[in-house]
Parts: sequence; structure tokens; C-alpha cells
Amino acid sequence: MVAQASQSEILRVKDVRKTYKLGRVKVPVLHGVDLSVQHKEWITILGASGSGKSTLMHLIGGLDRPDRSQEHPPSIVYGDRVITKLGAKGLNQYRSSEVGFVFQFYHLLPELNILQNVCIGAMIRHGRFGYTSNKKVVEQRAKELLDRFGLSDRMKHRPAELSGGERQRVAIARALINEPALLLADEPTGNLDLKTGEAILDVLTELRESSGLTMVMVTHDERIAARADRVIRLVDGRVVE
Ligand SMILES: Nc1ncnc2c1ncn2[C@@H]1O[C@H](COP(=O)(O)OP(=O)(O)OP(=O)(O)O)[C@@H](O)[C@H]1O
Ligand SMILES: [Mg+2]
Repeated sequence: MVAQASQSEILRVKDVRKTYKLGRVKVPVLHGVDLSVQHKEWITILGASGSGKSTLMHLIGGLDRPDRSQEHPPSIVYGDRVITKLGAKGLNQYRSSEVGFVFQFYHLLPELNILQNVCIGAMIRHGRFGYTSNKKVVEQRAKELLDRFGLSDRMKHRPAELSGGERQRVAIARALINEPALLLADEPTGNLDLKTGEAILDVLTELRESSGLTMVMVTHDERIAARADRVIRLVDGRVVE
């Protein structure tokens, strides 16, 4: 399915560059990425290991900043917000109210159980007092998500007691707890067998229909990429459609 011309653009990435600096060593990764994503569109990003897929996801999610350059001013625009111009407070707000992020390596908190790990995003969003008054609703949603991902009998377990694929599903549930408008998922099915991976994608597709979720997903799996509206590739630090 190709995005309709009538759909509206929700995300625009323009001339984004990123070089990591480790002491004197410079690791140039992105060399001017341009990308446009429509509301409710599902795009997947393919690219060789080390091509900068996670780096790009972190930049879009406001977890890191692109290189600043007078010559090539970068911009990442989400709706009417210029993410590249936001300060720390604006970025926090963007991350917690708009974005759900599934990290490639999950980043679950080891001392919390699964249910608490999923609820943590809501705690950050609402603050301690706001969360207390919303606790029942949030926990109910967390339980529903975990149930849909086949983890209803694991709520009280800690991440270390789960398999890789189970942890991955917890990470996806956590990313969805705040009902984000934009899901950024970095290889969300990398540790799942095909059938489980397909089932998770079915849930995400349903959410896209019911709540207008836009999805940007990194994958190495061509079969998963084939389900998306559009596939882009990162080659030599640039996007190739
Ligand atoms: N924090 C960092 N400091 C220095 N270099 C980094 C950092 N993060 C990533 N890199 C380097 O940037 C390049 C791109 O990394 P990135 O994680 O974005 O690749 P990727 O496309 O997601 O790879 P993979 O498919 O293996 O997950 C790699 O060469 C990596 O070593
Ligand atoms: Mg990666």
C-alpha cells in the first residue's frame, strides 16, 4: 500500500548529519538524511549493521541531537514542533507525550517487575502525583497490553527471569503505555520467532487503525519490511528509497 497524497505529513527530517566524537577519533555516521513520514504511515528502515539506523531513531526520538552546522542546518520537525530547536523541557515533553520508543536492547529496569516496567513511561509522563491519581487506569492498560503480548502470567517477574523475546514484548508494551502518536521501534521483532513477530505486528496494525499510530521501524527482516507501507534504506549515511 502506498501512502495517499491526501495524507498529511507528520514528520520531516532534513539534512541530518551525525558524527560521534571519541576523543580525537571521529566516527561519521549520517551524512545528510532526508525523510518525510505521513500521518498513520508505517515505514521500515533497512540497512547494514553500523549504517546508522539506531542513531537516526535516537535523533528522531529526541534522545540525541544531530550535528550543528551553519552550512547545513539540520531540522527534524514533528507536527508543528521543530524538535531540533527544543530545549531539555520541550524534548522531555515531546518524548513522553508523543513518542513511544522500543530500544534495540530493550533497556528494561532490572529491579522492577514487568508490570512496573511497562507503567514507568506513564509515571514519567504524569509525574508522581499525577500518576497516583491515574494509577488504576494505567495499570489496567499495562495489563491489557501484556495480555495481548502473551505475558499475562509474567506480570510479577523481573526482566532477568524472562527470555529475550519476552523482554522484547515488554519493551513494546512499555512504548505503547502512553498511547503515543509516533512509535519508533528499533528491531522490535529481532528476537521473536516469525509467528510471534507477526502477532505483535497485527496488534500494532490494529492500533494504527484504531488510534492513528504512525510507525517508523528498523528491521533486518525483509518479510517484516514487506508488510510496511514503504521501505527505506540507509546507505552511506543517506536515505535511499
Ligand atoms: N555513542 C556512540 N559513540 C561512538 N560511536 C557510536 C555510538 N553509537 C554508535 N556509534 C557508531 O556509529 C555507527 C552506527 O551505529 P548504529 O548503532 O546507529 O548502527 P545500526 O545501523 O543501528 O547497526 P545495527 O544494525 O548493528 O544495530 C557504528 O559504527 C557505531 O560504532
Ligand atoms: Mg541498531
